Amino acid sequence: MKHDLIYFDNAATVWPKPESVYRFMDHFYRTQGVNPGRSGYDLAIEAGSLLTNLRLRLTKFFGGDEDAPERLIFSYNVTDALNLIIPGVFNPGDHVITTNLEHNSVIRPVNHMVRDHGCEATYLPFDAAGFINPDEVRRAIRSNTKVVIVNHGSNVIGTVQPLKEIGSICREHGLTFVVDSAQTAGIIPIRMKEMNIDVVAFTGHKALMGSMGIGGLCIRKHVEVRQVRAGGTGVRSVEPYHLEEYPWRLEFGTPNMVGVASLWAGQDWLEENDMKHVHAREMRLASKLVEGLQAIDGVQLYCCDNLQNHLSTILMNMAGVDPADVGTILDVDHNIATRTGLHCAPLVHRQLDLVENHGGVRFSVGAFNTDADVDAAIHGVSEIARWSRERAIKPAQVVPIAIAEEQPVRLRA
Ligand code: ALA
Repeated sequence: MKHDLIYFDNAATVWPKPESVYRFMDHFYRTQGVNPGRSGYDLAIEAGSLLTNLRLRLTKFFGGDEDAPERLIFSYNVTDALNLIIPGVFNPGDHVITTNLEHNSVIRPVNHMVRDHGCEATYLPFDAAGFINPDEVRRAIRSNTKVVIVNHGSNVIGTVQPLKEIGSICREHGLTFVVDSAQTAGIIPIRMKEMNIDVVAFTGHKALMGSMGIGGLCIRKHVEVRQVRAGGTGVRSVEPYHLEEYPWRLEFGTPNMVGVASLWAGQDWLEENDMKHVHAREMRLASKLVEGLQAIDGVQLYCCDNLQNHLSTILMNMAGVDPADVGTILDVDHNIATRTGLHCAPLVHRQLDLVENHGGVRFSVGAFNTDADVDAAIHGVSEIARWSRERAIKPAQVVPIAIAEEQPVRLRA
């Protein structure tokens, strides 16, 4: 491992995590790492209570129905959560409205519903600044529209969508509003009831400061969800079919209790540090990064002229250099980690006309980045720009290759 790695890949996973999260995960697994909800001994009940308490704590965190915390269910990650909810709320022939900002965790399950179950989908483009216009959502509604799915914060260009406005249109038309909060849960407030959001899909390992391998759904009381998997629940084992009651309806097998512990400690950390302050600090660093990058010849930035309603995720390209090469040089020469390519969100790149270019270079600033990290990133990119300009003006050098003279073939006498 490179110990002095400058990590700008927090949109992929926030890293490192707070020390208190590592410590609590370790302590919990050593002292209470038994299977909850399967047995009646004290330790199993104690472990189970962390799970139950976390359901309520996260329901409050998302502004959901506090009297129905069992509708906060845990899955492996946000992709898994979306794969439970998308087939769970669609019926053959239904229409969904979604956006070009979606990650493949929405695009692919939606496309499967279209290809395999006769559903219809509309993908709304974002405007030049990277936002979905709520009026476009209204205009796209058809008589068979049932669901609207929106990525709250883009993992590519960092723009944050107007959930409240979209939510009120959904409520007016009786549509189920599903929000992918992969990039925003833990950094931008989500208030389900106030924003008329019916389902929030979340992941644990980003701004919620938990571990990989845990995510979930917060589902309002009125939402009907078809159960799409089956298995062990730990209770009523004699039933031949999967239980219909929550949380079991959407949970299967032994839960990820280390992940649960990480989310619990992540909530403690967020309460102590206040996500508004964490976000403000990240945005100060992101603004500094944008300002530095804008001053470099040949750098193009996308959808970050104004960082209002924005995450600290910044997409750039350098004229004449493949984004993968920019990423490799930043890594090898400057020890800076970024993510390049299409970021599992191909429609964003298609709309920005970047697919042929192989996407872009993404810097995602996190809670533990510093001013020195940003200075290093600006320096790294300006060095690549200088190298690129020098390469462009130098005449191409032809390096002669020594070829051995051909030897005459000697025939034997
Ligand atoms: N979706 C994550 C990212 O944007 C993994 O990198």
